[in-house]
Amino acid sequence: MTDIEYHFPKDFLWGTATAAHQVEGDNFNNDWWQWEQAGGGHICNDFTSGKACDWWGGRAEEDIARMADLHTNTHRLSLEWSRIEPQPGQWSEPALARYRQILTAMQRAGIKPMITLHHFTNPVWMNERGGWLNHDSVAWFAAFVEKVVREFGDLCDLWCTLNEPNVYATQSFIKNDFIGGAKPGPVVFFHLLEHLTRAHAAAFHVIHRLQPQAQVGLAMHLVDWHPGHPLNPFDRLLNRILDYSFNGVMLHALKTGEWRPVFGRWQALPEAKNSLDWVGVNYYQRYDVRLSLRSLLKRGTPFGGRLGLEKGPDWWGELWPYGLMTLLKRIYAQFGLPIYITENGVPDPDDEHRPHFILDHLRRVWQALRMGIPVRGYYFWSLVDNFEWAEGYNPAFHFGLYAVNFETQERTPRNSARLYAEIAASGKITSDMARRYAPEALDIILPLQGPGTQQVIEHLTHPRAR
Ligand code: FCB
Repeated sequence: MTDIEYHFPKDFLWGTATAAHQVEGDNFNNDWWQWEQAGGGHICNDFTSGKACDWWGGRAEEDIARMADLHTNTHRLSLEWSRIEPQPGQWSEPALARYRQILTAMQRAGIKPMITLHHFTNPVWMNERGGWLNHDSVAWFAAFVEKVVREFGDLCDLWCTLNEPNVYATQSFIKNDFIGGAKPGPVVFFHLLEHLTRAHAAAFHVIHRLQPQAQVGLAMHLVDWHPGHPLNPFDRLLNRILDYSFNGVMLHALKTGEWRPVFGRWQALPEAKNSLDWVGVNYYQRYDVRLSLRSLLKRGTPFGGRLGLEKGPDWWGELWPYGLMTLLKRIYAQFGLPIYITENGVPDPDDEHRPHFILDHLRRVWQALRMGIPVRGYYFWSLVDNFEWAEGYNPAFHFGLYAVNFETQERTPRNSARLYAEIAASGKITSDMARRYAPEALDIILPLQGPGTQQVIEHLTHPRAR
């Protein structure tokens, strides 16, 4: 059978992603650590992050060697604010020195860092002052960013200000399972998101002042929302509200400088206008919105994955690679900027779905590239299993290319690690890879059979020759 190959650009960035609190261990000076210690079932089985993947204790370096083994050329990591600034205005030299070691090890291994400046955790002192609901949080964050860029500007020029501000706002105030004590509600949700929008804009300007050539963006979690019943006006309305509140409102402000919450005061945020050099897309799932009692009783939410289709565990939603392509189209139409896929992955301890998942999503990225959308890189979530927030170490929520035994810190490559290494080394996905790693994906990677197939394959493989 003829093999089909989907080639990616030569300078494409192939990477993996992690976040400080999820891999470092002993991050005892942030709000999440406190929340974990409080127990009471907020976190699955009352897990606490503990040593996590022990990056702080010295294992970052061996995992950086794994990045190189995977033939990746970039990694997205976050710096922990509470380590670098344990008290307001006090900078920890040992923490800065340890991050310098880690970033230098990446540089030596040929791994370009993308640094995230806020990935869900806040210093305890910051939370005690009201966290992101305090208007001053914007200035606190800007001061931290300034320090970091001054310290590490020689090692990094690709910055991601915030991770998933929309998830942060949703989790802390609607689901109320991210941080203790905060009152849930839509007004608070938008208020928080407004401050995060201001914080992003402030960081964007600080970074560019110090490092004019920097490339600055942020990672938005984009869900592919659909009305459960396309003709049902209630489903359609709720779908629009959810899509706008979750995917839309902040990006709108970052493009236009207009803050237009569903609840709260509309206002101008001129500093936010065009405050992106690139857009980061974290993509995981599709949700269908169903405004019915049955759906509410069944799922506890008015949205979820379509019944009978491939889903992650519990509430995870539907695995839907096509949605990645449609979201990339939408973001490019809105911004006309380069895009990074800053996260994409699947909770899958037995690696049943992951190889298929990787191939199918990358096929959609390839398709987007062919449509002229400038996708610059892909960061797989995650390199190693790690502390998955409210799921803790729940085995159903293991995302790593490498499995981690949290008792012994031993790492074991999953099959998908071998697959991803082949992809990153060759810069392509192929039907041969599907045959070897995910035979069930073969008909997706080889979409056509029968008369004329050969010509279509030729065309896909060598489009410029025609
Ligand atoms: C994203 C988070 C990341 C990780 C993955 C599974 O929403 O940014 O830290 O938890 O989900």
